[in-house]
Amino acid sequence: MQKTALVTGVTGQDGAYLSRYLLQRGYRVVGAHRATSIHSRSRLACLGIEEHIEYVDMDLVELASVLRVVEAVRPDEIYNLAAQSFVGRSFEQPVYTADVDALGVTRLLEAIRTVNSGIRFYQASTSEMFGCALHAPQTEETPFFPRNPYGVAKLYAHWITANYRDAYGIHASSGILYNHESPLRGREFVTRKITSQLALIKYGRQKELALGNIDAKRDWGFAGDYVEGMWRMLQSDKSASYVLATGQAHTVREFAQISAAELGLDLVWEGKGIHERGIDRKSGKTIITIDPEFYRPTEVETLVGSPCKAEQTLGWKRHVSFEELVGMMAHADDQLARDGTYSF
Ligand code: NAP
Ligand code: GDD
Repeated sequence: MQKTALVTGVTGQDGAYLSRYLLQRGYRVVGAHRATSIHSRSRLACLGIEEHIEYVDMDLVELASVLRVVEAVRPDEIYNLAAQSFVGRSFEQPVYTADVDALGVTRLLEAIRTVNSGIRFYQASTSEMFGCALHAPQTEETPFFPRNPYGVAKLYAHWITANYRDAYGIHASSGILYNHESPLRGREFVTRKITSQLALIKYGRQKELALGNIDAKRDWGFAGDYVEGMWRMLQSDKSASYVLATGQAHTVREFAQISAAELGLDLVWEGKGIHERGIDRKSGKTIITIDPEFYRPTEVETLVGSPCKAEQTLGWKRHVSFEELVGMMAHADDQLARDGTYSF
């Protein structure tokens, strides 16, 4: 019998890749988004699936809206991808971030408990919960130490998911996902900021790219690989928490270096701290500057995870390497910058 999946945050990066994956597996996919969505369905259109999804209006800050949707859709599985997901913004909007990213999850879990406690639930947890991590690489057992309002809100969501699992026997799993990127990534996140703006610089449409802490290290993988892990979590007999990561960390500086090379720019660095600059050796022009505006009040310097449990228990495996990911994003943005068309 055909399964129905309700995907919240369907207009986002992961919403698009997960919906495509579920459609390929024969699911009926119902995508929930806000009536006031700031994103269009352009990511879904980009993957050629916009017309294959049913859409419902739902805002995670409104309990009645969440209840009504779960009642009407009667899903077998709910993938909760909706969130205010930008760490930088969470410092400016901490209360809103908590409402959506923390309490929003309780609203969904309450809807499941009320409508049908047999619905399987995926919560989009994050490596940001480890924050100032005490060990590296982090595992499901590493203590949490969040460093920003986003991480704190997501940690509440993580624990409430575990609580509904234990208290009510709901099949509720948390994916503790490390940074995953793609050509569909929002342009406020550092990877896509780099590839999109360096591409514009290449075509003379922009002069410089301003960055913050380029020594921050992240464990970057490809979003298309990670959504398969989400699905695998909900097919497992037992619900649990799983880390999805690559096990390798790279600096923002390395990401910029490889992106520049992929775009045909020969990037060399000069200076230190806020005076550091990235120069294109061929033209001699400064193309990267450091702007303290992009520093965070509290930074997470390094995150790197161990995907051992997911690999051994779920049979999950990533396919795209760091270098392939950077190349994929740089080439997609090269084309967009050349054609001058950006829809997300
Ligand atoms: P994204 O591109 O920012 O998408 C977030 C989605 O949430 C958008 O569709 C947005 O819809 C929706 N949303 C925001 N506020 C909402 C609200 N109040 N009610 C309903 N929907 C709302 O994020 P992503 O990269 O796909 O990430 C998906 C999830 O995984 C997020 O929960 C994120 O925190 C988590 N996560 C991401 C990563 C990563 O590296 N990508 C890693 C770990 C965890 P609008 O179009 O209406 O704005
Ligand atoms: N956005 C941004 N812009 N980040 C910058 C910049 C800049 O100009 N310069 C340096 N950085 C550094 C940030 O300080 C951070 O250390 C790192 O680059 C990555 O920043 P983001 O790409 O914004 O991602 P994030 O790691 O804060 O959060 C993402 O990954 C989390 C999982 O670890 C988001 O997708 C979260 O939703 C997700 O949970």
